[in-house]
Order: sequence, then C-alpha cells, then structure tokens
Amino acid sequence: MEIKLVSGDIAQVAVDAILVNLFEGMEKPSGATLAVDEALGSAITQLIQEGEIKGKLGEVTLIHTLGKIPAKRVAVVGLGKKEAFNLDRARGSVAEGLRALRRAGAARAATIPFGDGLGGIDPAKSARAVAEGAILGLYTFTQHQTKPDEKQIRELLLVERDETKLQEMEEGIRIGRIMAEATNLARDMVNQPANVVTPSAMAEAARKIAEGSGLGFRVMERAEMEALAMGGILGVAQGSIQPPKFIILEYKGGPAGQPPLGLVGKAITFDSGGISIKPSEGMQEMKGDMAGGAAVIAAMGAIAQLKPAVNVTGLIPATENLPSGSAMKPGDILRILGQKTVEVISTDAEGRLILADALAYANKLGLKPLVDLATLTGACHVALGDLYSGAFSNNQELLDKVVQAGKETGERHWPMPTEEEYKEQYKSDVADMKNVGGRWGGAITAALFLQEFAGETPWVHLDIAGPSRSERDRGYLVKGATGVGVRTLINLALGMSKG
Ligand code: BES
Ligand code: MN
Ligand code: ZN
Repeated sequence: MEIKLVSGDIAQVAVDAILVNLFEGMEKPSGATLAVDEALGSAITQLIQEGEIKGKLGEVTLIHTLGKIPAKRVAVVGLGKKEAFNLDRARGSVAEGLRALRRAGAARAATIPFGDGLGGIDPAKSARAVAEGAILGLYTFTQHQTKPDEKQIRELLLVERDETKLQEMEEGIRIGRIMAEATNLARDMVNQPANVVTPSAMAEAARKIAEGSGLGFRVMERAEMEALAMGGILGVAQGSIQPPKFIILEYKGGPAGQPPLGLVGKAITFDSGGISIKPSEGMQEMKGDMAGGAAVIAAMGAIAQLKPAVNVTGLIPATENLPSGSAMKPGDILRILGQKTVEVISTDAEGRLILADALAYANKLGLKPLVDLATLTGACHVALGDLYSGAFSNNQELLDKVVQAGKETGERHWPMPTEEEYKEQYKSDVADMKNVGGRWGGAITAALFLQEFAGETPWVHLDIAGPSRSERDRGYLVKGATGVGVRTLINLALGMSKG
C-alpha cells in the first residue's frame, strides 16, 4: 500500500472513502472531522445527537455521502475518552477504520493525522501512528488461498492542513513504515505452516534480509554445533530429519570496540513436544513456536534500515522438536555449551534447552546486554493472558528500558519476579539442573533456568507465549500472528544509540 502525504482539505479530496475520528462524549466534532461534517451538511453532528455515533473506542460508523463531497463514503471512528487517548489508540483506530473501508470496497482512501485539539502529539509521531496503524491493521495472509478476498486498499492519502508540518511528518511515515513492515514480515513467518518455515527456510529468509540490507550473516550447521558442544540444540534437533540451523545476523552501527547488544530468539519451527508429546488438540498452533526468532530476524532487518549508532547481533537457534527413534528421551542428560549439564525431564521444555546454548554462546561472543524473546511457557499465557508478555531480568535498569521501549510502541511487557528461592524447583539428583521446575510458577522457573546461562551479563527475557497470537482482529492486530516484540527490539536499539 502506498501512503502519500498531501496538504489540503480532507473533505475535498477525490478518493473512494474518507476516514475521520471523534472523541467519546463530544457534542460536535472538531478539527478536520468538523470540516467533513460541514461539507456533509452537519450529518455527523446529527448522528451524534441521535445517539448513533458515540465516539466509543473502536466504534466505526459508515456514512454515505450521496454526492455532497467527492468521496462516496465517510467512516467515523471512535477514539474513546479524550483523557485516555494515546498513540496506541491512534494506531488501533486507523486500523479499525481502514478495515471497515476495505470491507466497503474502497481502493483509495484518505485520512487525517492526530493532533487537532490534542496539543501534546507531535506531527512526526502522529504521522507515524497513522502509517503503523494502516500497514499493521490491513495485514492479510492469503498466500495459500487459491481464491483470496481481493478487496485491497492500494493507496492512502494522509491529508494535513498545515504545510509547515509536512517534512516532519514524512520522516514519521518513513519510520512507521519500516517498523510496521518488519512486524508484518515476522507475522508472515509465524503464520506460515511448519512444512514451509523449516529451520533451513528461516536461515534462507534471514540471508535474503541480510543481503538486502547489508547485515552480516552466518549460519552455524550441525557440525559446528558439535564442535562447540552445543548439547541443548543438538539434543532437541535429534528427533527431526530437518537439520538445525543457528542463525547469526550482525549490524555494526556503533564504535568498533563497543560490545554489541545481543538479541536472541527461540525458533522451534514446530513443537510437537517430542517424546513428551503434546495433546493433539490445538497442536497446529505450535507452528508459531518460532515467533521469538522471527521477531529477531525482522527487527535486525529494520535496524539495518534505520541505522542507529549501536552494534547489534541477532542469534536465532532454529530446530524442530519431534519424536522419532532418534529423539532425545526423558531422563537424558545434555551438556550445554560451557559445560553445565541438564537432565531432561520433559522433552516439551525444549525452548530453554536451545536458548541455554544461545545465551551461553552470546556470552562467549561478548554480547552485552542480552534480550531474549521466546514463546516459552503456557504458564506465562495463563498468568498474563494475551495482552502482556512476561518480562524477567537480572538487571533493573535494563528491564526498565525494555519495558519503556515496549510502552512507546504499544507492546506491553509486565515485570515478573525472579527470586533465587524458585531455583530449588529445578534441582536435579543426577545433573546440574533439570529442565522442568514443576507446576507452580512455570514461567518463572523457565526464566531462572535461562538466567543460569545469561550469567552476570545484564539480560531480559520476554516470554511472548500469550501475545504472539491474537484470537481475533483487535485494533492493529489481525487474527493470527501478531509479530510482537519486533517494534520493542527496534525501539530499544534506537534508544540505545541515543545513549
Ligand atoms: N512452546 C511451548 C510453550 C507454549 C505453549 C507457547 C502454548 C505458546 C502457546 C513450550 O515449548 C512448552 O511446551 N512449554 C511447556 C513447558 C513444560 C513442559 C514445563 C508448557 O508450557 O507446558
Ligand atoms: Mn515445548
Ligand atoms: Zn516450545
């Protein structure tokens, strides 16, 4: 979709449909919405008086313009209460409104920035929110449908009245587009079935992104993992005929001596549970168990385009987790890179095994700080639902930074406890630790297990098992993969370059 920034009067643009907005509880619209209202002979004001339009968050009302203005339809989207308004609501309202216009068959649409009567919102951020809301909210995954719904908004005009704001807004659109397209790239990888997105396919996708953006790229094959004694990923990969891949992406934007920020993403391209096999109901969703890895790959691509003055390295351990005659078994003891041994109680607690090797390897490379993303535990989904990721850390300052980086992009991460006392739960009788910490606090014991391998390096673990998928369209999220984490990681790298 093309997004064009133009100056002028929204009521007069020649497009199929127009999207305007309204706060809850207003008797009359203001700003550009008022201009449209006036051109329509106060139709919007009338519908407000009749109680048909309330301005509630997510409410979309379609109005036929019957020749009063060039556009055939106007959608009025509710922004909710003015006091509660934020950029995330802006993104969500653009998404809901544009989806309604797409359903109505509009191919060319126009909308307005947020700012009118909102004082605080700066033009660049406002334009960025429109671009993100539009690109994220109109996302579809139709590649495998022979007769997909062909309705598409091909062009969006963002109409600003004040010409002096255009330059700033153009830059906002550029950043918003990069952020949103990276998120959609991650969504595509996560939505793809496991017979398409294998570890090799992920490595191939990462290679393409690296070639297109100038990132350093390398894949570690099984032989090299063996030479390094990465017993975790090798153990998990043992049950599959798909070869494991350890993908490494490098961005160098900072001083040569500065340790790179390490981004680590779990990439289990299908998690059957292995010998500790999962129940078959809902197992198809485990094609998305590589959402952390996809987020890291996509974020690295965007970072290469936005060029912050930092060094960043992405590590993506990728493998399937399947049962077979050669699969690892409960009771097996694995030796993780760097010597620590793990007794496998459940082969379904495989994410922490591959991440243990990846975090140990990150330390070996001297990456600092570390942020890992993983669809790690059902327990975290149960604890926080699908709105929040769990955020675990050994360093308060870094944790605050990651949570803040998320907040600015609309991605919510909730700090979780990491008290030492929980560690008792994964003591083993025969090895240094076991890979399961019992039923209670499952997200916490999984995180503490990872912390053993992050060591003293400042580290944050985001358990994205809940928010990696959405059950329905909601704001700028579309049913299916959400691409959660991509924008947090990009924003974190941008923030670190500012110091
Ligand atoms: N990939 C799953 C976690 C998961 C569950 C992600 C549901 C998204 C939705 C992970 O590998 C897993 O199986 N975890 C187990 C851990 C248990 C065996 C200690 C779990 O959560 O049940
Ligand atoms: Mn599992
Ligand atoms: Zn898993």
